[in-house]
Amino acid sequence: MTKPKTAHVDLDATRGRLDVLGLGYASELLEGLLNEAVKDNHAPHVFLDRVLAAEQSRREERRIATSLKLSGLPQDMTLGNFDFGFQPGIDKSRIETLATCAWIRAHETLLFQGPPGIGKTHLAVALGVKAVANGFSVAFYRLEDLLHAMKQDAEVPPRRLKGKKYLKTSLLITDEVGFQTLSRQEASLFFRLVSYRYQRGSMIITTNKSVKDWPEVMAGDEVMTTALLDRLLHRCHVFNIKGRSYRLRDLERALKH
Ligand SMILES: Nc1ncnc2c1ncn2[C@@H]1O[C@H](COP(=O)(O)OP(=O)(O)OP(=O)(O)O)[C@@H](O)[C@H]1O
Ligand SMILES: [Mg+2]
Repeated sequence: MTKPKTAHVDLDATRGRLDVLGLGYASELLEGLLNEAVKDNHAPHVFLDRVLAAEQSRREERRIATSLKLSGLPQDMTLGNFDFGFQPGIDKSRIETLATCAWIRAHETLLFQGPPGIGKTHLAVALGVKAVANGFSVAFYRLEDLLHAMKQDAEVPPRRLKGKKYLKTSLLITDEVGFQTLSRQEASLFFRLVSYRYQRGSMIITTNKSVKDWPEVMAGDEVMTTALLDRLLHRCHVFNIKGRSYRLRDLERALKH
């Protein structure tokens, strides 16, 4: 009786080579893929391609997971779970165009402005997640945390400062501008940040304040705020959102009955 055809190769040696070459996932999956290839009679190049594709997709998954962790982006806010039907004031196709990340390549800026609960943070985070998937480095901060980090770095020499996340990432998301009035020192730190990133990297800013009220937020410094907005709004995608609070939708529903 003839034995069923199996792959008579020294898998340990092959795995060893893959490991030495840094192809750890391929090494791990080799046996399963080989058995599948023998069973389904795959051509050699199909088998080779499957091994490489497995390595590539696992690496990509790991890269995305690591970048998301490093970015500080909150979880569970994606374009997939954003209900555009609830917020007709937001043009879905405009957001979808931004999700291609061409604006990040062009070092442009994005401003989400509007009242509480309308999805500013959600959309900013969702576009951040898209940016990570497209290979960009991203940092997410609430303005308060960003100011805290910048104050702590006040003594760091400029050469080393360049390595800080808020300066070097391709996309910096600053959430909640306008919630608090900044001190002169804070406003000046924020101005320096915007100046540094201007035409070097992208930014998303969310704010509950119309830009005409920004001087008040920036320690009453009209001159500095004008210079800041000039940089920020040059090549900026502005979303001035008017709508209902998603947080209050259950309450609205309850009140209707
Ligand atoms: N259209 C939407 N579809 C699904 N979830 C939404 C939508 N809009 C808002 N949410 C959810 O509602 C909550 C509030 O939204 P978000 O935090 O984005 O509001 P915001 O505009 O940033 O408000 P604030 O100015 O108070 O920070 C979040 O949990 C968010 O995921
Ligand atoms: Mg918010």
